[in-house]
Amino acid sequence: MLKTLILAAGLGKRMKSKYPKVVHPILGKPMIKWVVEIAQNFGKVGIVLGYKAEMVKQVLPEDIEIFIQKEQLGTGHAVMCAKDFISENDDLLILYGDVPFISKDTLNKLIEEHKNKKNEVTILSAILDNPSGYGRILRIENGKIRIVEDKDANKEIKKINEINTGIYIFNGNFIKKNLDNLNNKNAQGEYYLTDIISFADNISTIVVDDIFEVTGINNRIQLSEIEKEMRKRINRKLMLEGVRIIDPENVYIDPDVQIGRDTIVYPFTFIEGKTVIGEDCEIGPMTRIKDSTIGNNVKVIRSEVEKAIIEDNVSVGPFSRLREGTHLKTKVKIGNFVETKKTIVGENSKAQHLTYLGDTTIGKNVNIGAGTITCNYDGKNKHPTFIDDNSFIGSNSSLVAPVKIGKNSIVGAGSVITDDVPDNSLALGRARQIIKENWVKLKREANKNATNKE
Ligand code: UD1
Ligand code: CA
Repeated sequence: MLKTLILAAGLGKRMKSKYPKVVHPILGKPMIKWVVEIAQNFGKVGIVLGYKAEMVKQVLPEDIEIFIQKEQLGTGHAVMCAKDFISENDDLLILYGDVPFISKDTLNKLIEEHKNKKNEVTILSAILDNPSGYGRILRIENGKIRIVEDKDANKEIKKINEINTGIYIFNGNFIKKNLDNLNNKNAQGEYYLTDIISFADNISTIVVDDIFEVTGINNRIQLSEIEKEMRKRINRKLMLEGVRIIDPENVYIDPDVQIGRDTIVYPFTFIEGKTVIGEDCEIGPMTRIKDSTIGNNVKVIRSEVEKAIIEDNVSVGPFSRLREGTHLKTKVKIGNFVETKKTIVGENSKAQHLTYLGDTTIGKNVNIGAGTITCNYDGKNKHPTFIDDNSFIGSNSSLVAPVKIGKNSIVGAGSVITDDVPDNSLALGRARQIIKENWVKLKREANKNATNKE
Protein backbone atom coordinates (compact mmCIF):
# COMPACT_ATOMS: atom_id res chain seq x y z
CA MET A 1 0.00 0.00 0.00
CA LEU A 2 0.95 3.62 -0.49
CA LYS A 3 0.36 6.54 1.82
CA THR A 4 0.96 10.16 0.90
CA LEU A 5 2.32 12.79 3.25
CA ILE A 6 1.97 16.42 2.17
CA LEU A 7 4.38 18.92 3.70
CA ALA A 8 2.69 22.26 4.14
CA ALA A 9 3.84 23.79 7.41
CA GLY A 10 5.78 26.67 5.87
CA LEU A 11 4.34 30.15 6.18
CA GLY A 12 5.29 31.37 2.74
CA LYS A 13 6.90 34.61 3.84
CA ARG A 14 7.32 35.89 0.31
CA MET A 15 3.57 35.88 -0.32
CA LYS A 16 3.38 38.90 2.06
CA SER A 17 -0.01 37.67 3.17
CA LYS A 18 -1.87 37.28 6.44
CA TYR A 19 -3.13 33.92 5.15
CA PRO A 20 -1.03 30.77 4.90
CA LYS A 21 0.42 30.29 1.43
CA VAL A 22 -1.37 27.03 0.66
CA VAL A 23 -4.90 28.45 1.10
CA HIS A 24 -4.42 30.98 -1.69
CA PRO A 25 -6.70 29.92 -4.52
CA ILE A 26 -5.51 29.00 -7.99
CA LEU A 27 -8.40 29.14 -10.46
CA GLY A 28 -10.85 29.19 -7.61
CA LYS A 29 -9.40 26.20 -5.74
CA PRO A 30 -7.09 26.56 -2.74
CA MET A 31 -3.53 25.57 -3.65
CA ILE A 32 -3.52 22.75 -1.09
CA LYS A 33 -6.69 21.21 -2.52
CA TRP A 34 -5.02 20.67 -5.88
CA VAL A 35 -2.40 18.55 -4.13
CA VAL A 36 -4.83 16.75 -1.82
CA GLU A 37 -7.11 15.76 -4.70
CA ILE A 38 -4.20 14.24 -6.62
CA ALA A 39 -2.95 12.43 -3.51
CA GLN A 40 -6.36 10.94 -2.78
CA ASN A 41 -6.09 8.93 -6.00
CA PHE A 42 -3.44 6.77 -4.38
CA GLY A 43 -4.78 6.03 -0.90
CA LYS A 44 -4.50 7.49 2.58
CA VAL A 45 -3.38 11.12 2.90
CA GLY A 46 -1.68 12.86 5.80
CA ILE A 47 -0.60 16.47 5.97
CA VAL A 48 1.86 18.43 8.08
CA LEU A 49 0.61 21.89 8.97
CA GLY A 50 2.14 24.68 11.00
CA TYR A 51 1.50 28.34 10.31
CA LYS A 52 -2.21 29.13 10.90
CA ALA A 53 -3.08 25.43 10.71
CA GLU A 54 -6.71 26.13 11.66
CA MET A 55 -7.18 28.19 8.55
CA VAL A 56 -5.73 25.47 6.34
CA LYS A 57 -7.88 22.79 8.02
CA GLN A 58 -11.01 24.64 6.95
CA VAL A 59 -10.33 24.00 3.28
CA LEU A 60 -9.33 20.35 3.72
CA PRO A 61 -11.61 17.33 3.33
CA GLU A 62 -12.38 15.50 6.60
CA ASP A 63 -10.72 12.16 5.93
CA ILE A 64 -7.20 13.56 6.09
CA GLU A 65 -4.86 12.98 9.00
CA ILE A 66 -3.40 16.22 10.26
CA PHE A 67 -0.04 16.61 12.03
CA ILE A 68 1.24 19.83 13.50
CA GLN A 69 4.80 21.06 13.22
CA LYS A 70 5.02 23.93 15.70
CA GLU A 71 8.36 25.26 14.52
CA GLN A 72 9.53 24.90 10.95
CA LEU A 73 12.86 23.21 11.53
CA GLY A 74 13.19 21.66 8.09
CA THR A 75 11.60 19.11 5.78
CA GLY A 76 13.10 16.20 7.76
CA HIS A 77 11.67 17.58 10.97
CA ALA A 78 8.27 17.98 9.29
CA VAL A 79 8.24 14.27 8.46
CA MET A 80 9.31 13.45 12.04
CA CYS A 81 6.20 15.27 13.25
CA ALA A 82 4.11 12.82 11.25
CA LYS A 83 5.92 9.73 12.51
CA ASP A 84 2.68 8.09 13.60
CA PHE A 85 1.43 8.23 10.03
CA ILE A 86 4.32 6.18 8.70
CA SER A 87 3.98 2.41 8.80
CA GLU A 88 6.69 -0.14 8.01
CA ASN A 89 4.58 -2.01 5.48
CA ASP A 90 3.42 0.98 3.45
CA ASP A 91 5.40 3.03 0.99
CA LEU A 92 5.41 6.76 1.69
CA LEU A 93 4.98 9.34 -1.08
CA ILE A 94 6.08 12.87 -0.15
CA LEU A 95 4.40 15.85 -1.82
CA TYR A 96 4.58 19.59 -1.13
CA GLY A 97 1.60 21.82 -0.46
CA ASP A 98 3.06 24.57 -2.64
CA VAL A 99 3.74 22.37 -5.68
CA PRO A 100 0.15 22.06 -6.86
CA PHE A 101 0.29 20.70 -10.40
CA ILE A 102 2.02 17.37 -10.06
CA SER A 103 0.10 14.95 -12.31
CA LYS A 104 -1.35 11.53 -11.74
CA ASP A 105 0.60 10.19 -14.73
CA THR A 106 3.95 11.29 -13.35
CA LEU A 107 3.20 9.88 -9.92
CA ASN A 108 2.11 6.59 -11.48
CA LYS A 109 5.46 6.40 -13.29
CA LEU A 110 7.27 7.08 -10.02
CA ILE A 111 5.25 4.40 -8.22
CA GLU A 112 5.92 1.89 -10.99
CA GLU A 113 9.67 2.55 -10.88
CA HIS A 114 9.65 2.22 -7.10
CA LYS A 115 7.86 -1.14 -7.24
CA ASN A 116 9.80 -2.59 -10.17
CA LYS A 117 13.19 -1.78 -8.67
CA LYS A 118 12.09 -2.70 -5.12
CA ASN A 119 13.71 0.58 -4.07
CA GLU A 120 14.24 2.04 -0.66
CA VAL A 121 13.90 5.48 -2.24
CA THR A 122 12.73 6.64 -5.66
CA ILE A 123 13.29 10.31 -6.45
CA LEU A 124 11.46 12.51 -8.93
CA SER A 125 14.18 14.70 -10.41
CA ALA A 126 14.18 17.41 -13.07
CA ILE A 127 16.75 18.78 -15.49
CA LEU A 128 16.85 22.57 -15.32
CA ASP A 129 18.77 25.14 -17.37
CA ASN A 130 19.01 27.22 -14.24
CA PRO A 131 19.17 24.85 -11.25
CA SER A 132 20.12 27.50 -8.69
CA GLY A 133 18.20 27.35 -5.44
CA TYR A 134 17.44 23.63 -5.68
CA GLY A 135 19.05 20.61 -4.09
CA ARG A 136 21.36 18.86 -6.63
CA ILE A 137 21.36 15.14 -7.37
CA LEU A 138 24.90 13.91 -6.81
CA ARG A 139 25.62 10.33 -7.90
CA ILE A 140 28.19 8.69 -5.65
CA GLU A 141 29.78 5.19 -5.62
CA ASN A 142 27.75 1.94 -6.08
CA GLY A 143 24.74 3.67 -7.58
CA LYS A 144 24.11 5.59 -4.37
CA ILE A 145 22.83 9.17 -4.44
CA ARG A 146 23.39 12.20 -2.27
CA ILE A 147 21.34 15.40 -2.42
CA VAL A 148 23.28 18.57 -1.74
CA GLU A 149 21.28 21.69 -0.95
CA ASP A 150 22.12 24.79 -2.94
CA LYS A 151 23.30 26.61 0.17
CA ASP A 152 25.65 23.74 1.04
CA ALA A 153 26.97 23.18 -2.49
CA ASN A 154 30.45 24.02 -3.75
CA LYS A 155 31.17 25.43 -7.20
CA GLU A 156 31.40 22.00 -8.87
CA ILE A 157 28.14 20.71 -7.39
CA LYS A 158 26.35 23.91 -8.31
CA LYS A 159 27.04 23.08 -11.96
CA ILE A 160 24.92 19.91 -11.75
CA ASN A 161 21.60 20.60 -13.43
CA GLU A 162 19.68 17.55 -12.29
CA ILE A 163 17.72 18.76 -9.27
CA ASN A 164 15.60 17.29 -6.51
CA THR A 165 11.93 18.18 -7.02
CA GLY A 166 11.25 17.25 -3.39
CA ILE A 167 8.86 14.51 -4.47
CA TYR A 168 9.93 10.98 -3.54
CA ILE A 169 8.68 7.59 -2.49
CA PHE A 170 10.26 5.97 0.54
CA ASN A 171 9.98 2.39 1.65
CA GLY A 172 8.16 2.63 5.02
CA ASN A 173 10.62 0.50 6.91
CA PHE A 174 13.58 2.43 5.49
CA ILE A 175 12.31 5.89 6.40
CA LYS A 176 11.15 4.83 9.86
CA LYS A 177 14.58 3.44 10.61
CA ASN A 178 16.53 6.46 9.35
CA LEU A 179 14.42 9.41 10.42
CA ASP A 180 16.01 9.51 13.87
CA ASN A 181 19.51 9.73 12.37
CA LEU A 182 18.93 13.22 10.97
CA ASN A 183 20.78 16.22 12.37
CA ASN A 184 20.81 19.91 11.61
CA LYS A 185 24.53 20.44 11.01
CA ASN A 186 24.29 22.32 7.72
CA ALA A 187 24.28 25.81 6.28
CA GLN A 188 20.65 26.44 7.22
CA GLY A 189 20.64 24.68 10.61
CA GLU A 190 17.66 22.59 9.47
CA TYR A 191 16.76 18.91 9.59
CA TYR A 192 16.95 18.03 5.91
CA LEU A 193 14.79 15.18 4.68
CA THR A 194 17.25 14.95 1.81
CA ASP A 195 19.98 13.71 4.16
CA ILE A 196 18.18 10.37 4.42
CA ILE A 197 18.72 9.77 0.72
CA SER A 198 22.41 8.90 1.08
CA PHE A 199 21.60 6.00 3.42
CA ALA A 200 19.77 4.14 0.64
CA ASP A 201 21.45 1.32 -1.30
CA ASN A 202 18.55 0.65 -3.62
CA ILE A 203 17.69 3.99 -5.12
CA SER A 204 16.89 5.47 -8.53
CA THR A 205 15.43 8.57 -10.09
CA ILE A 206 12.78 9.37 -12.65
CA VAL A 207 13.13 12.63 -14.57
CA VAL A 208 9.92 14.61 -14.87
CA ASP A 209 8.95 15.42 -18.48
CA ASP A 210 7.17 18.67 -17.83
CA ILE A 211 8.85 21.16 -15.48
CA PHE A 212 5.51 22.90 -14.89
CA GLU A 213 4.38 19.93 -12.80
CA VAL A 214 7.09 20.48 -10.20
CA THR A 215 7.12 24.26 -10.13
CA GLY A 216 6.69 25.64 -6.66
CA ILE A 217 4.96 28.86 -5.73
CA ASN A 218 6.75 31.31 -3.47
CA ASN A 219 5.34 34.73 -4.30
CA ARG A 220 2.37 36.32 -5.99
CA ILE A 221 4.14 36.77 -9.30
CA GLN A 222 4.73 33.03 -9.53
CA LEU A 223 1.15 32.49 -8.40
CA SER A 224 -0.25 34.53 -11.27
CA GLU A 225 2.17 33.03 -13.81
CA ILE A 226 1.38 29.48 -12.83
CA GLU A 227 -2.34 30.25 -12.78
CA LYS A 228 -2.09 31.67 -16.28
CA GLU A 229 -0.33 28.55 -17.51
CA MET A 230 -2.90 26.29 -15.85
CA ARG A 231 -5.73 28.31 -17.38
CA LYS A 232 -4.13 27.93 -20.79
CA ARG A 233 -3.96 24.16 -20.29
CA ILE A 234 -7.60 23.92 -19.18
CA ASN A 235 -8.74 25.90 -22.24
CA ARG A 236 -6.60 23.79 -24.57
CA LYS A 237 -8.02 20.58 -23.13
CA LEU A 238 -11.56 21.83 -23.61
CA MET A 239 -10.81 22.87 -27.18
CA LEU A 240 -9.35 19.45 -27.93
CA GLU A 241 -12.58 17.96 -26.58
CA GLY A 242 -14.67 20.02 -29.00
CA VAL A 243 -15.43 23.32 -27.26
CA ARG A 244 -14.98 26.47 -29.36
CA ILE A 245 -13.21 29.17 -27.37
CA ILE A 246 -12.88 32.52 -29.10
CA ASP A 247 -9.69 34.13 -27.82
CA PRO A 248 -8.65 31.66 -25.07
CA GLU A 249 -6.34 34.30 -23.57
CA ASN A 250 -9.41 36.11 -22.30
CA VAL A 251 -11.56 33.25 -21.11
CA TYR A 252 -11.28 32.07 -17.49
CA ILE A 253 -12.48 28.55 -16.79
CA ASP A 254 -12.06 26.73 -13.47
CA PRO A 255 -10.63 23.19 -13.38
CA ASP A 256 -13.81 21.30 -12.45
CA VAL A 257 -15.99 22.93 -15.11
CA GLN A 258 -17.46 20.65 -17.80
CA ILE A 259 -18.50 21.96 -21.21
CA GLY A 260 -20.12 20.00 -24.05
CA ARG A 261 -19.17 19.82 -27.72
CA ASP A 262 -19.83 22.67 -30.12
CA THR A 263 -20.51 25.14 -27.36
CA ILE A 264 -18.95 28.53 -28.11
CA VAL A 265 -17.37 30.59 -25.36
CA TYR A 266 -16.87 34.25 -26.22
CA PRO A 267 -14.20 36.55 -24.71
CA PHE A 268 -14.20 38.04 -21.22
CA THR A 269 -16.16 35.15 -19.81
CA PHE A 270 -15.63 33.48 -16.43
CA ILE A 271 -16.95 29.96 -15.87
CA GLU A 272 -16.36 28.97 -12.27
CA GLY A 273 -16.76 26.34 -9.59
CA LYS A 274 -18.72 23.20 -10.33
CA THR A 275 -20.44 24.46 -13.46
CA VAL A 276 -21.67 22.02 -16.11
CA ILE A 277 -22.62 23.34 -19.56
CA GLY A 278 -24.15 21.21 -22.32
CA GLU A 279 -23.66 21.16 -26.10
CA ASP A 280 -24.33 23.86 -28.72
CA CYS A 281 -24.52 26.71 -26.22
CA GLU A 282 -23.38 30.29 -26.71
CA ILE A 283 -21.77 31.68 -23.58
CA GLY A 284 -20.58 35.29 -23.35
CA PRO A 285 -19.14 37.67 -24.18
CA MET A 286 -18.72 39.27 -20.74
CA THR A 287 -20.50 36.63 -18.77
CA ARG A 288 -19.83 35.07 -15.40
CA ILE A 289 -21.30 31.69 -14.52
CA LYS A 290 -20.64 30.01 -11.18
CA ASP A 291 -21.75 26.66 -9.72
CA SER A 292 -24.56 26.29 -12.24
CA THR A 293 -25.97 23.58 -14.47
CA ILE A 294 -26.83 24.53 -18.01
CA GLY A 295 -28.43 22.28 -20.65
CA ASN A 296 -28.01 22.17 -24.42
CA ASN A 297 -28.52 24.99 -26.90
CA VAL A 298 -28.63 27.73 -24.26
CA LYS A 299 -27.54 31.32 -24.84
CA VAL A 300 -26.18 33.40 -21.96
CA ILE A 301 -25.02 36.82 -23.11
CA ARG A 302 -23.39 39.52 -20.93
CA SER A 303 -24.96 38.15 -17.77
CA GLU A 304 -24.25 36.83 -14.27
CA VAL A 305 -25.45 33.37 -13.31
CA GLU A 306 -24.84 31.81 -9.90
CA LYS A 307 -26.16 28.55 -8.38
CA ALA A 308 -28.81 28.31 -11.08
CA ILE A 309 -30.24 25.54 -13.23
CA ILE A 310 -30.98 26.34 -16.86
CA GLU A 311 -32.65 23.70 -19.04
CA ASP A 312 -32.36 23.26 -22.83
CA ASN A 313 -33.14 25.95 -25.42
CA VAL A 314 -33.21 28.86 -22.98
CA SER A 315 -31.86 32.30 -23.70
CA VAL A 316 -30.62 34.76 -21.10
CA GLY A 317 -29.47 38.35 -21.42
CA PRO A 318 -27.93 40.61 -22.34
CA PHE A 319 -27.47 42.19 -18.89
CA SER A 320 -29.38 39.85 -16.64
CA ARG A 321 -28.59 38.37 -13.26
CA LEU A 322 -29.74 34.92 -12.25
CA ARG A 323 -29.12 34.35 -8.57
CA GLU A 324 -29.16 31.37 -6.25
CA GLY A 325 -32.10 29.04 -6.64
CA THR A 326 -33.09 30.14 -10.11
CA HIS A 327 -34.46 27.31 -12.27
CA LEU A 328 -35.36 28.11 -15.87
CA LYS A 329 -37.22 25.31 -17.62
CA THR A 330 -36.93 24.58 -21.30
CA LYS A 331 -37.53 27.36 -23.88
CA VAL A 332 -37.64 30.13 -21.27
CA LYS A 333 -36.57 33.60 -22.38
CA ILE A 334 -35.00 35.98 -19.89
CA GLY A 335 -34.18 39.25 -21.61
CA ASN A 336 -32.30 42.35 -20.57
CA PHE A 337 -32.08 43.76 -17.06
CA VAL A 338 -33.93 40.92 -15.39
CA GLU A 339 -32.98 39.68 -11.92
CA THR A 340 -34.20 36.36 -10.55
CA LYS A 341 -33.69 34.76 -7.14
CA LYS A 342 -35.17 31.49 -5.80
CA THR A 343 -37.45 31.49 -8.79
CA ILE A 344 -38.73 28.73 -11.03
CA VAL A 345 -39.81 29.77 -14.50
CA GLY A 346 -41.91 27.17 -16.33
CA GLU A 347 -41.56 25.94 -19.89
CA ASN A 348 -41.85 28.55 -22.62
CA SER A 349 -42.42 31.47 -20.26
CA LYS A 350 -40.84 34.87 -20.83
CA ALA A 351 -39.60 37.82 -18.81
CA GLN A 352 -37.95 39.97 -21.41
CA HIS A 353 -37.30 43.38 -19.87
CA LEU A 354 -36.49 45.17 -16.60
CA THR A 355 -37.97 42.75 -14.10
CA TYR A 356 -37.33 41.40 -10.60
CA LEU A 357 -38.61 37.94 -9.76
CA GLY A 358 -37.88 36.76 -6.21
CA ASP A 359 -39.27 33.68 -4.39
CA THR A 360 -41.54 33.18 -7.37
CA THR A 361 -42.97 30.11 -9.09
CA ILE A 362 -44.12 30.65 -12.63
CA GLY A 363 -46.00 28.08 -14.73
CA LYS A 364 -45.90 27.40 -18.49
CA ASN A 365 -46.43 29.94 -21.28
CA VAL A 366 -46.53 32.91 -18.95
CA ASN A 367 -45.61 36.38 -20.15
CA ILE A 368 -44.13 38.73 -17.61
CA GLY A 369 -44.41 42.28 -18.95
CA ALA A 370 -41.63 44.83 -18.90
CA GLY A 371 -40.96 46.32 -15.50
CA THR A 372 -42.85 43.70 -13.47
CA ILE A 373 -41.65 43.54 -9.88
CA THR A 374 -42.45 40.86 -7.31
CA CYS A 375 -42.52 42.67 -3.97
CA ASN A 376 -41.30 39.66 -1.99
CA TYR A 377 -39.91 41.46 1.05
CA ASP A 378 -42.01 43.33 3.59
CA GLY A 379 -39.02 44.63 5.51
CA LYS A 380 -38.96 41.62 7.83
CA ASN A 381 -39.86 38.47 5.91
CA LYS A 382 -39.74 37.10 2.39
CA HIS A 383 -43.02 35.92 0.82
CA PRO A 384 -43.79 33.80 -2.24
CA THR A 385 -45.51 34.66 -5.51
CA PHE A 386 -47.25 32.08 -7.72
CA ILE A 387 -48.17 32.75 -11.33
CA ASP A 388 -50.00 29.89 -13.00
CA ASP A 389 -49.93 28.63 -16.62
CA ASN A 390 -50.82 30.89 -19.59
CA SER A 391 -51.17 34.05 -17.54
CA PHE A 392 -50.13 37.50 -18.67
CA ILE A 393 -48.72 40.13 -16.36
CA GLY A 394 -49.06 43.60 -17.87
CA SER A 395 -46.07 45.91 -17.91
CA ASN A 396 -45.01 47.83 -14.85
CA SER A 397 -47.05 45.76 -12.41
CA SER A 398 -46.14 45.17 -8.78
CA LEU A 399 -47.15 41.80 -7.36
CA VAL A 400 -47.23 42.23 -3.57
CA ALA A 401 -46.41 38.85 -2.03
CA PRO A 402 -47.76 36.56 -0.76
CA VAL A 403 -49.98 36.48 -3.81
CA LYS A 404 -51.27 34.02 -6.42
CA ILE A 405 -52.23 34.66 -10.00
CA GLY A 406 -54.44 31.87 -11.39
CA LYS A 407 -54.33 30.12 -14.78
CA ASN A 408 -55.16 32.01 -17.99
CA SER A 409 -55.51 35.31 -16.16
CA ILE A 410 -54.45 38.81 -17.10
CA VAL A 411 -53.10 41.56 -14.89
CA GLY A 412 -53.61 45.00 -16.42
CA ALA A 413 -50.52 47.09 -17.01
CA GLY A 414 -49.48 49.31 -14.12
CA SER A 415 -51.39 47.28 -11.53
CA VAL A 416 -50.47 46.86 -7.89
CA ILE A 417 -51.79 43.40 -7.07
CA THR A 418 -52.32 42.70 -3.37
CA ASP A 419 -55.07 40.05 -3.53
CA ASP A 420 -55.07 36.63 -5.22
CA VAL A 421 -56.39 36.56 -8.78
CA PRO A 422 -58.56 33.52 -9.68
CA ASP A 423 -58.27 31.55 -12.93
CA ASN A 424 -59.49 33.07 -16.22
CA SER A 425 -59.83 36.58 -14.75
CA LEU A 426 -58.75 40.13 -15.48
CA ALA A 427 -57.28 42.00 -12.54
CA LEU A 428 -56.81 45.75 -12.53
CA GLY A 429 -55.24 47.37 -9.54
CA ARG A 430 -54.71 50.98 -10.51
CA ALA A 431 -56.50 54.35 -10.39
CA ARG A 432 -59.16 54.78 -13.06
CA GLN A 433 -58.16 57.18 -15.83
CA ILE A 434 -59.95 60.55 -15.82
CA ILE A 435 -60.29 62.83 -18.89
CA LYS A 436 -61.01 66.54 -18.50
CA GLU A 437 -61.70 67.64 -22.04
CA ASN A 438 -60.27 71.04 -23.11
CA TRP A 439 -58.91 71.54 -19.60
CA VAL A 440 -55.51 72.74 -20.86
CA LYS A 441 -56.94 75.14 -23.40
CA LEU A 442 -59.35 76.74 -20.91
CA LYS A 443 -56.61 77.07 -18.31
CA ARG A 444 -54.34 78.86 -20.80
CA GLU A 445 -57.05 81.30 -21.80
CA ALA A 446 -57.81 82.08 -18.19
CA ASN A 447 -54.15 82.82 -17.50
CA LYS A 448 -53.90 85.08 -20.55
CA ASN A 449 -56.90 87.16 -19.47
CA ALA A 450 -55.44 87.58 -16.03
CA THR A 451 -52.13 89.04 -17.40
CA ASN A 452 -53.91 91.39 -19.84
CA LYS A 453 -55.79 93.05 -16.97
CA GLU A 454 -52.56 93.97 -15.11
C1 UD1 B 1 13.50 21.41 -0.64
C2 UD1 B 1 14.57 20.32 -0.77
C3 UD1 B 1 15.41 20.58 -2.02
C4 UD1 B 1 14.53 20.63 -3.24
C5 UD1 B 1 13.39 21.65 -3.05
C6 UD1 B 1 12.41 21.55 -4.19
C7 UD1 B 1 15.13 19.76 1.53
C8 UD1 B 1 16.13 19.92 2.61
N1 UD1 B 1 15.41 20.38 0.39
O1 UD1 B 1 14.17 22.63 -0.46
O2 UD1 B 1 16.39 19.57 -2.18
O3 UD1 B 1 15.29 20.94 -4.38
O4 UD1 B 1 12.70 21.41 -1.84
O5 UD1 B 1 11.48 22.59 -4.07
O6 UD1 B 1 14.17 19.07 1.70
N2 UD1 B 1 8.15 22.46 5.01
C9 UD1 B 1 7.53 22.10 6.18
N3 UD1 B 1 8.24 22.24 7.34
C10 UD1 B 1 9.49 22.72 7.38
C11 UD1 B 1 10.10 23.08 6.17
C12 UD1 B 1 9.41 22.93 4.99
O7 UD1 B 1 6.39 21.66 6.18
O8 UD1 B 1 10.05 22.80 8.48
C13 UD1 B 1 7.39 22.33 3.76
C14 UD1 B 1 7.15 23.67 3.10
O9 UD1 B 1 5.91 24.21 3.53
C15 UD1 B 1 7.16 23.33 1.64
C16 UD1 B 1 8.07 22.13 1.54
O10 UD1 B 1 8.16 21.59 2.84
O11 UD1 B 1 5.88 22.96 1.17
C17 UD1 B 1 9.43 22.47 1.02
O12 UD1 B 1 10.02 23.43 1.85
P1 UD1 B 1 11.02 24.51 1.31
O13 UD1 B 1 11.49 25.33 2.42
O14 UD1 B 1 10.44 25.16 0.13
O15 UD1 B 1 12.23 23.56 0.83
P2 UD1 B 1 13.51 24.02 0.07
O16 UD1 B 1 14.46 24.59 1.05
O17 UD1 B 1 13.12 24.86 -1.08
CA1 CA C 1 10.81 25.69 -2.04
